Amino acid sequence: MTTSPFRSAVVPAAGLGTRFLPTTKTVPKELLPVVDTPGIELVAAEAAEAGAQQLLIVTAPGKEAIAAHFADSGELEQTLADRGKDALVAKVRRAHELIAVRTVTQAEPLGLGHAVGCAREAIGADEGCFAVLLPDDLVLPSGVLTRMAQVREEKGGSVLCAFDIPREEISAYGVFDVTDTGDADVKQVHGMVEKPAAADAPSTFAAAGRYLLDVAVFDALDRITPGAGGELQLTDAVALLISEGHPVHVVVHRGGRHDLGNPGSYVRAFVDFALADPDYGPELREWLTARLAN
Ligand code: G1P
Repeated sequence: MTTSPFRSAVVPAAGLGTRFLPTTKTVPKELLPVVDTPGIELVAAEAAEAGAQQLLIVTAPGKEAIAAHFADSGELEQTLADRGKDALVAKVRRAHELIAVRTVTQAEPLGLGHAVGCAREAIGADEGCFAVLLPDDLVLPSGVLTRMAQVREEKGGSVLCAFDIPREEISAYGVFDVTDTGDADVKQVHGMVEKPAAADAPSTFAAAGRYLLDVAVFDALDRITPGAGGELQLTDAVALLISEGHPVHVVVHRGGRHDLGNPGSYVRAFVDFALADPDYGPELREWLTARLAN
């Protein structure tokens, strides 16, 4: 068995979810289902698979349903068991058994950097690094965190996940200034900029929601000022670390990716997962084919 080089995984989930209004008046965006499972449970499963032992969910007042999703559901499980619904018992129990979950409250929406900073007190003094998984991003197949951890072992510092994004879409992302290493999928990062204009983007390699950060980032987060969108940006803390000589690398993920953060791309994720589902896939494929022919 290999031991994971990180113990805590931080999942920022404090946003208002404005792109999903009116649903997000009462339902946190992170609980919207991908077929039948909330996106944040998929992300929790990825963190657990990579060896994380605690999931630190950064939430906001009013989003208590997220913690409730991971809480013990013994009563419901008993009801289902009494009815002989063993498969459902397993489904219901999964979130609770995956990983230990703690929530941390971000009282004010001051940005992703600020949200990550809120997790500081919940990370043990002996932890040298921690993972961050943005629940809007599904990175497929899973496994990139394990690869990122190997790169940290080799090169030290912090390791992020990058996707090669079409230049016309680049201004929605944190973008890396990179040079090659001996490994085509690992690049050294010399700078990082949040949401640059396409013409100013230093490359087409963008941050894709998976970070393995040295705890030195907390000190950097204390020293940044509001950046893009007037928010305290995680990107700016990483850029500050780089400027001070902290090693930062990216693992370029060549697999798939879904963005659950807006309705258009969320629908694609839903359909993609549903097509792969043994129960729903075959009929959906047939229906979609007929629907598109009309
Ligand atoms: C955040 C980060 C950005 C990153 C993106 C990935 O932006 O700030 O650097 O590239 O997630 O999804 P957001 O999508 O929250 O605007």
